[in-house]
Amino acid sequence: MSLSNTVRSYGSAARLLHWTVALLILVNIPLALWAEGLPRTSDADAALLARVYSAHKTIGVIVFALALVRVFWALTQPKPAPIHPARRLETFAAEAVHWSLYAAILILPLSGWIGHAASTGFAPILWPFGQSLPFVPKSENLAHLAGAVHGVASKLLILSILLHVAGAVKHVLIDRDGTLARMITGRAAGDGRTEPSHRPALLSLALWGALIAAVLTFAPPSRNEGAATVATAEGGNWSVADSTITFTVRQMGQEVTGSFAGWTARISYDEGSRTGDTDVTIPLEGMTLGAVTEQAAGPEFFDRATFPEARFKATIADEAGSLTARGTLSLRGKELPVALPFTLTIDGDTATAAGTVTLDRRDFGMGPSYPDESTVGFAVRVDIALTAQRGD
Ligand code: HEM
Ligand code: HEM
Repeated sequence: MSLSNTVRSYGSAARLLHWTVALLILVNIPLALWAEGLPRTSDADAALLARVYSAHKTIGVIVFALALVRVFWALTQPKPAPIHPARRLETFAAEAVHWSLYAAILILPLSGWIGHAASTGFAPILWPFGQSLPFVPKSENLAHLAGAVHGVASKLLILSILLHVAGAVKHVLIDRDGTLARMITGRAAGDGRTEPSHRPALLSLALWGALIAAVLTFAPPSRNEGAATVATAEGGNWSVADSTITFTVRQMGQEVTGSFAGWTARISYDEGSRTGDTDVTIPLEGMTLGAVTEQAAGPEFFDRATFPEARFKATIADEAGSLTARGTLSLRGKELPVALPFTLTIDGDTATAAGTVTLDRRDFGMGPSYPDESTVGFAVRVDIALTAQRGD
């Protein structure tokens, strides 16, 4: 049994790669289609959905690795010639579909992976490395576009597989030739003669190129893009601009960071005495947590339908050399004391402040159905990064 191809047969390496990738794909497509139809209302639903998508993504990434090996291997090998080269149209169609399948096993995992790397949270890839990809920024718009490419590409893949398998079945039932056997057993078939043509590849790649270009051009923009975390100013002697409040929690072992948009802060601060006070109102409508925003907003966590805003009222004082905003955080119907230490730099009329405080979600009654940290961690780190201009 030879590892390598000849012009009449597939070697064992090509066959092993073909059938392994075929099997993984034939598992991964139904897995995704099943996941699409799963209910998404309760938290148990969300946990199952995350597990199914984790499996889907992990299988997809394995397919990508195998696809790279496969393409590299195919490039170094003779290509078995079509068994009936005289049937030009059939040969052309079979080869165009093969090229389409090669394109699909690269484009599908890659678009899925880019979408995953660009979004925050939800269903990690089950592997020991990070979830991000180099050169892929966290961006809802990019995640949305990659998702659109993934969805449309999956339809072209399914069509290609249907044509491919229909062809294989035709060879078995109608032609009764050795086409399927040479991919299963490696037995040689045909006379190895062919007139190589680039046209099937060009047609296939043009089709894929046009499809991706069309998706990128016509995909509707992401709904959430632009929900930047910019604060507006109200009262006080400092007006806030270009500032962010973010929060970070561990979800299924990975850190995910969310943010609040549209919050307002009133800040009074006296440089001489290093004292002041602040009142921050955070409408939870502007809360996003990547792909799990809906779950975070639901009754189990922020419950924003019942408690639409959070508020932090504090006095600012120098506590043993470190500025601290100490006060009450009202969140989800609870009022708890919170102390936020922060650094402050004042340069002329511009102040920049940065501070971090770690809260425990259980103190606010968040996540009672998640009594341990396996799905959602207890600690929630809140980071503020503030720029303010001196007012009157
Ligand atoms: C062999 C590779 C893959 C195949 C054949 C595949 C196939 C599919 C299919 C058929 C769907 C349903 C699409 C729809 O009905 O709109 C889907 C959805 C999805 N796939 Fe994949 N996939 C692959 C790899 C990946 C990878 C590597 C990731 C991420 C790392 C991924 C993430 C997703 C996600 C998040 C969805 C649901 C959301 C969406 O439609 O964008 N997939 N996939
Ligand atoms: C039950 C499913 C499948 C069957 C019965 C099947 C059968 C075959 C057969 C018989 C050949 C050899 C054709 C020839 O000698 O001219 C072949 C080649 C090929 N198959 Fe499949 N296949 C299946 C699934 C898939 C899937 C899911 C993919 C997706 C990636 C795929 C990708 C390919 C490619 C790219 C080739 C061309 C290999 C080359 O010549 O470089 N197949 N398949």
